[in-house]
Formats: sequence, structure tokens, C-alpha cells
Amino acid sequence: MYIEEEDILKHISAKPFRLVSEAADELNVEAYVIGGYVRDIFLRRPSKDIDVVAVGSGIELAKAVAKKLGRGTHLSVFKNFGTAQVKAGDVELEFVGARKESYTHDSRKPVVEDGTLEDDQNRRDFTINALALCLNKDRYGELVDPFGGLDDMDNLLIRTPLDPDITFSDDPLRMMRAVRFASQLGFYIDPDTFEAIERNKERISIISKERIVDELNKIVMSPKPSVGFDLLDRCGLLPLIFPELCALKGVETKEGIGHKDNFAHTLMVLDRLSKTTDNLWLRWSAVFHDIAKPATKRFDTRLGWTFHNHNFIGEKMIPGIFRKMKLPMNEKMKYVQKMVSLHMRPIVLADEDVTDSAIRRLLFDAGDDIDDLMKLCEADITSKNPDKVRRFLNNFRLVREKLAEIEEKDRVRNFQPPVSGEEIMETFGLSPSRPVGVLKDAIKNAILDGVIPNEYEAAHRFMLQRAEKMGLKPKA
Ligand code: CTP
Repeated sequence: MYIEEEDILKHISAKPFRLVSEAADELNVEAYVIGGYVRDIFLRRPSKDIDVVAVGSGIELAKAVAKKLGRGTHLSVFKNFGTAQVKAGDVELEFVGARKESYTHDSRKPVVEDGTLEDDQNRRDFTINALALCLNKDRYGELVDPFGGLDDMDNLLIRTPLDPDITFSDDPLRMMRAVRFASQLGFYIDPDTFEAIERNKERISIISKERIVDELNKIVMSPKPSVGFDLLDRCGLLPLIFPELCALKGVETKEGIGHKDNFAHTLMVLDRLSKTTDNLWLRWSAVFHDIAKPATKRFDTRLGWTFHNHNFIGEKMIPGIFRKMKLPMNEKMKYVQKMVSLHMRPIVLADEDVTDSAIRRLLFDAGDDIDDLMKLCEADITSKNPDKVRRFLNNFRLVREKLAEIEEKDRVRNFQPPVSGEEIMETFGLSPSRPVGVLKDAIKNAILDGVIPNEYEAAHRFMLQRAEKMGLKPKA
């Protein structure tokens, strides 16, 4: 990984780095920028978190730097962890003293001792994350790379600095991080490191669900998320952290008829969708769209394999899975549920005649998420039959055109019925009761089916006619 010295210096030329340098020289300690910030200089990625390690007290160094930065600087000290954070404007520096750590086997709580820079680098997760740049004046910008991190970057390798069994048992989350970096950066996991993940996978059980899902989110957001999910599957972590996705694996054949492997299909949909969106929750919708296929799979001698209602059952499965995985139980989840429940609709539409009524109903149900839904559906066409694909995509174009047309004409996205429940009750002297709901639904359906336009006058007239048939009379 070649990069001009000048380029490296440019990344550590801002005022906070200069002040760390001054303060470290005054305190007579060595100070280094280390970890992700250094890695990202060489990978030419943007990076914001700056980690500084001091061979000595990180807290003392942080205090001295905060003082030099002066007014508007915010210092937080975490004495128990031996760390401190300095915030000045949008720059954030984390300070830590170089440590030698060993972990007790049954917890993540480390026994910490002061150490050298090398001790500190030894206990980091991967060689590419163990690079350090010296900040002391006489060695400013000098790279310390004891484990060949630069070579590993050239070879696109994720590798632990120490024996991987030690690195992973120190912090089992690192197994997820290995997969996440591979997926995010397009790197490969070194075979020894990969085999250690296979051996140590069960240890993931001591890691909190929140930290695991943070890594999963980063995998989902990577350029080609299937890389991460495939690795999780191959190393054996996936059944431990997301068994429902694993259950999509495999094909079954009966009477000479097979179905597609829904795991491979799901990952293909996710990759295809990821080319068109950075919306994390739309990407998660792809992950979940066929989640109920194993639960709904049947073999019918006439129809072959069927997965009836897998969209609705999938929608119902989502809260349980989200709760278990500590994904958010809020409107993000509701959005994923909505996408999963509606994901068949445009396909069915594209397969039949595209009627105005069906389009209005789709717009009504999807609301503002209609464009996201169309993206998901287009990504869902993974057939290998080019004629089929062409036909679907062509029909989808038609669906999109019709959507635009109907939307312009009928304004049914975020539809509010032109006659409210209150008005119905008021008109007929009703208290909240079944006939009110029946009338409201009848008006909604008449608009969605194109029987009447989406306007007050027409809806009011329709309400009076329908009420008369129901034996309701307006109040005198
Ligand atoms: N680190 C580690 N083991 C962990 C987490 C972090 O050794 N389980 C070390 C690595 O040296 C890492 C540094 O701490 O580079 C900072 O960690 P973090 O900010 O979590 O990750 P980054 O590597 O900066 O990457 P990202 O911001 O993408 O998470």
C-alpha cells in the first residue's frame, strides 16, 4: 500500500494533532495515532474518530491537550477505564494509555497493566487496525507497523496480530468484526484467522445483542452485503445469531420438482437492491422479504412448491425476530413489516392487466413508501430466464407510469377520506358504531375502485345514497 509521506502528514496536520505533539513532548511521553484513523488514511477512506495512545497516562495527556485547545473544549475522563475524550468543534480525540491486557476466560473484563506501544498493538484486533503514527516532534508521522499491516492491506487480508485463538477469546465480537471488515472493505479473511472463527464461534454467546447488531447493520450497509452474510454462514456464526435467515438455505425436490434456494435468492435481492439504495431499513426489508418461506412451504401435486401468504406470515414474524436481535421496535420495524407484507403486490400487478383500481389500492397501502417498494420488487426479480425478466421489467415500467398518472389525477397517496367518521355520525345522528365503519369503508372503496372521484361533493352524495340503502336517514 503505497502512499506519499506528504499525504500522511497532511492527515495529521490539523491543530489538535500538533497540540498532542507539543503536550506529549512536554510530558515526556510517546504518543501515537492508532487504529481505524491510520488504517483509513492508507485505504483513502474518510474517517473521523481519532484514537491516541500514550505510552504513559492517556488521561494526563488528554488534560494537557484540552488545556492547550482552550475555550470551547470539552474533556470527559473515564477513570475506571483509564481513558479520556477531548471534543473541540467537530474533532473528537480518544486518549488511552498503552496497555497490556489479559482477559479472564468467562468475561470481557480485562485485567489491565501499563504496557509499551508494542503491548498495545499486540492486543488489537487486526493487523490493519494496529498501525500507529508517532506524534512526537522528532518522529512526527513515523509509521510503526510491527505485524505487516501495510502488506495485508496490499493483499486485502484481515488477519489477527497474535494467534487468532487468543485475539478472539479476548473479545469474541472480533469474529463479527472480521466478517464486517471483509464485507465493508472487500477484503479476505486469512485462512488461519477464519479457521479460528470456526473454532471459537460459540463464544459469541457472551457478546451483547446490541454489539452484534451494530456489526450486522454495517454488513447490511456494505457495498455487497452478501459477502458478509456468506462469510457468517460459512464460518458457522449465522445459525447462532440469525437462525431464521439460515433456515432459508437449501433446496428440496419432490416428484422431480425443485424450488430455488431462498438463502441465495435473498442475498441476491439484497445485493441488487444495495446498488440502488443506502436506506438501511429498505436493505433490511430485502433480508426479511422471504423470511416466512420455510414456515409456509408446501408441496401440491398440481401446483408444485407453494409459499402461500409468506408475505403476511413474514410480517407477523418480524417483531419477534427484531426483539430477539435487538433491532429497533419502532417505526423502522413497522416500515420493514410494511415492505415485507406488500412485496408481492407490484409483481402480481405486473403479471396481470394493470387496472387503475389495483394501482390506486397499491398507492393507498404503500403511501409515501411506494418508490421504496418498487425498488424492492425490481430487485426481487432474480430469474435466470431472460424472457421472463424482460417481461417483468417491462410491466414494471408500465406500473410505474400508471402510478405517476393515477397519483397526479387522484391523489390517493396518504389518502384521507373526504368525508370523515365524525361527519357521518353527525349527519345520521349516530354514535360510534358498526354502520359508521361500514359507510366509511364503502366511501374509501368507491374512491379506490374509481366509482367516484376523490372529492368531497361526490363522496357526500355517495354516502347519502349508500346510507339510504342501509335504512339510515339524515337527522332532520
Ligand atoms: N479494537 C479492537 N477490538 C475491538 C474493537 C476495537 O482491537 N473489538 C481496536 C482496533 O485497533 C480499532 C480501534 O480499537 O481500530 C478502534 O475501534 P473502533 O472505533 O470500534 O473501530 P474502527 O477500527 O475505528 O472502525 P469503525 O469505525 O469502522 O468501527
